[in-house]
Amino acid sequence: MFRHRKLAAVLLGSLLISPLAMADAKNDTEMKKLATASGCMTCHGIEKDKPGPDGLKPIGPAWINVAKQYKGKPGATEFLTRVVLEGSNPYSSHWKDKVSGLSMPPNAVAITEGNARLLVNWILAM
Ligand code: HEC
Repeated sequence: MFRHRKLAAVLLGSLLISPLAMADAKNDTEMKKLATASGCMTCHGIEKDKPGPDGLKPIGPAWINVAKQYKGKPGATEFLTRVVLEGSNPYSSHWKDKVSGLSMPPNAVAITEGNARLLVNWILAM
């Protein structure tokens, strides 16, 4: 974790010339606030699965596990941004046995595309 933070700091440092990148870079606290305000934390944990209601399986996967699954895969940011906005496809889920088996409902009413992409980039950097 610490090593990643350091790496992120180095990468961010090298982006300082770009004012746009700077405006988009938000810290952990801000991202947690955004995730909470967008309703994501009802179903997701960050570092570990959020227990489901009444001892059931977690509703959605912890984001650290999403990061493990997708990190470094080409197109992951765009794919996951679409999934967050439009909801997941229950027929192609790879989370089925690990979490509730429900699909993620569309979040497009709760969140803008820009904020969805911001959250996905944060998740992928975990
Ligand atoms: C009502 C519950 C619920 C809410 C609210 C919710 N999710 Fe999900 N999310 C899920 C479930 C269930 C899955 C697993 C879907 C599956 O099995 O493919 C999931 C999966 C994901 C994935 C992984 C998708 C994949 O293809 O592996 C990401 C990323 C994600 N959610 C991000 C978010 C973000 C960001 C928000 C807030 C804007 C959010 N979720 C809000 C239930 C929710």
